[in-house]
Amino acid sequence: MNNKGMFITVEGIEGVGKTTNIQFISEWLSNNNIEFIASREPGGTPFAEEIRNVLLQPRDEKVCDTAELLLMFAARAQHLDALIQPALEQGKWVLCDRFTDATYAYQGGGRGLSLDLIAQLETIVQGAFRPHAVILLDVPVEIGLGRASARSELDRIEQEKASFFEAVRQQYLDRADADPDRYHVVDASVDLPEVQNQLQDVLASIKARSS
Ligand code: TMP
Repeated sequence: MNNKGMFITVEGIEGVGKTTNIQFISEWLSNNNIEFIASREPGGTPFAEEIRNVLLQPRDEKVCDTAELLLMFAARAQHLDALIQPALEQGKWVLCDRFTDATYAYQGGGRGLSLDLIAQLETIVQGAFRPHAVILLDVPVEIGLGRASARSELDRIEQEKASFFEAVRQQYLDRADADPDRYHVVDASVDLPEVQNQLQDVLASIKARSS
């Protein structure tokens, strides 16, 4: 896959402030005259958004972990083909609310599925394609879940217990530790202006690497 634009993903557990911080990142990109699109996973195209609804709707039937995993990658395949790759090839940057790191964290860390299996699916769907930069918004689980429960209804995955999110967070942090050039860990437990100061530094370093 031959790309020109930068592919930046934003990750973290529930309640890290992804929406507010993605808004801030979007404004920073616009202010820096960077042409970009913003998208999200699971979702990003009409077909992938339908898969998102199937995945996140609370339901009585227990969804088996493998079905959940495969649907995440099915949505991703469509998103990559129909939206992400065409935008990058036009030289645009793509800012994505979650991507495959979320699969390692939630289906691998949280559900306990094999990381090797996830890596195999990653190769099938993405080849060697990976985000150029991953911004990991990190907060302790009790802070994140406290913030998330103050919001409206929780989706099927958000209804998991604290130990699930501890494992999700740990998997994110392990991945960031293993590849510090590509992962940018932002302490999102501090006040918003301080989070945004950290984000500005991260974005400046990503921009410097793109040119
Ligand atoms: P969000 O848009 O609020 O982040 O919700 C998406 C949910 O889907 C969130 O609970 C994390 C979950 N998810 C996975 O479990 N695996 C994945 O690969 C992705 C992209 C999301």
